[in-house]
Amino acid sequence: MELFKAIKERRSIRKYTDKAIDKATMEKLLDAAKWAPNAGNYNAWKFIVINEPAQTKQLLNFCPGLNDVPAAIVLICSKPKQKKLADKVRLMYMADCAIASQNLVLAAYAEGIGSCVVVSFADVALREILEIPDNVYPFMMVTLGYPSETPEPPPRLPLSEIVYKNEYGKEWK
Ligand SMILES: Cc1cc2nc3c(=O)[nH]c(=O)nc-3n(C[C@H](O)[C@H](O)[C@H](O)COP(=O)(O)O)c2cc1C
Repeated sequence: MELFKAIKERRSIRKYTDKAIDKATMEKLLDAAKWAPNAGNYNAWKFIVINEPAQTKQLLNFCPGLNDVPAAIVLICSKPKQKKLADKVRLMYMADCAIASQNLVLAAYAEGIGSCVVVSFADVALREILEIPDNVYPFMMVTLGYPSETPEPPPRLPLSEIVYKNEYGKEWK
């Protein structure tokens, strides 16, 4: 699939069919995620794939705003090298996870799989259920499954409102 087409046409999907994602396809998506740019090339991320329907359902209880059960949830966590995280370093690891999630959703779209990035989840509950150690930080979740909806593209601002030329506030033209 052409990259720009995938970037523009991918939508957040919140309603899924019951069809499971096979292991080879899931590994293809995870492989795309791991090729994301990441700070220092530390590869300081861990991807927890939850694809047991009962467990997926259980997790959704701790994700306000998500109702439908996806075929899988990938919880993207980081396992920083440092014990204490300065704010900036913490942001760096969050950025790694965010970029990996973008690779994941675009790769999913190219495979005909819908996805939604979710950050509104109760990490305390998830930590307990998934037995995540204290030195690992769950940052974002990506739901995955075959879509049973075709959302309209939500609007984006025109470039003239978000891009400046050479100086903040200076019109791009
Ligand atoms: C950091 C982040 C957090 C998000 N959290 C949620 C969420 O908790 N629940 C949800 O339904 N969608 C969530 N989304 C999806 C956004 O609502 C969606 O990307 C946005 O409305 C634009 O729609 P589009 O992805 O179809 O272009 C999140 C997206 C991002 C990037």
